[in-house]
Amino acid sequence: MFKYSEKVMDHFMNPRNVGQIDNADGEGTVGNPICGDLMTFYIKVDNGRLTDLRFKTFGCGAAIAVSSMVSEMAKGKTLDEAMKITNKMVARELGGLPKNKLHCSNLGADALHKAIEDYRNKKGKRGKRK
Ligand code: FES
Repeated sequence: MFKYSEKVMDHFMNPRNVGQIDNADGEGTVGNPICGDLMTFYIKVDNGRLTDLRFKTFGCGAAIAVSSMVSEMAKGKTLDEAMKITNKMVARELGGLPKNKLHCSNLGADALHKAIEDYRNKKGKRGKRK
């Protein structure tokens, strides 16, 4: 039987940055077509950097660990740097995931990128720099 890495267990048992940002600058939700689970990321942006991130994940333990890890990896990064975080990088940071749970890591970076795109769209519409 596959054993989850200590990092996965830690981020699952003590997820960082869980929750919601009410006046978020960007928000992104993705669903996993394989299992139907959902992940939403909320971001705050200041001067082109992610100053705060929160997430809500209605999913399995691996998905929760992935969200938590993504939030830690992205905090403080510029938007361009955060856009370069890939699902593979997240799974690697977590010390790997079992093969049949790899699809769970597909939500993390995608939800983050969607939130950044949402922020960029809104910013474009407002027509001002932040
Ligand atoms: Fe759905 Fe893991 S089983 S995200």
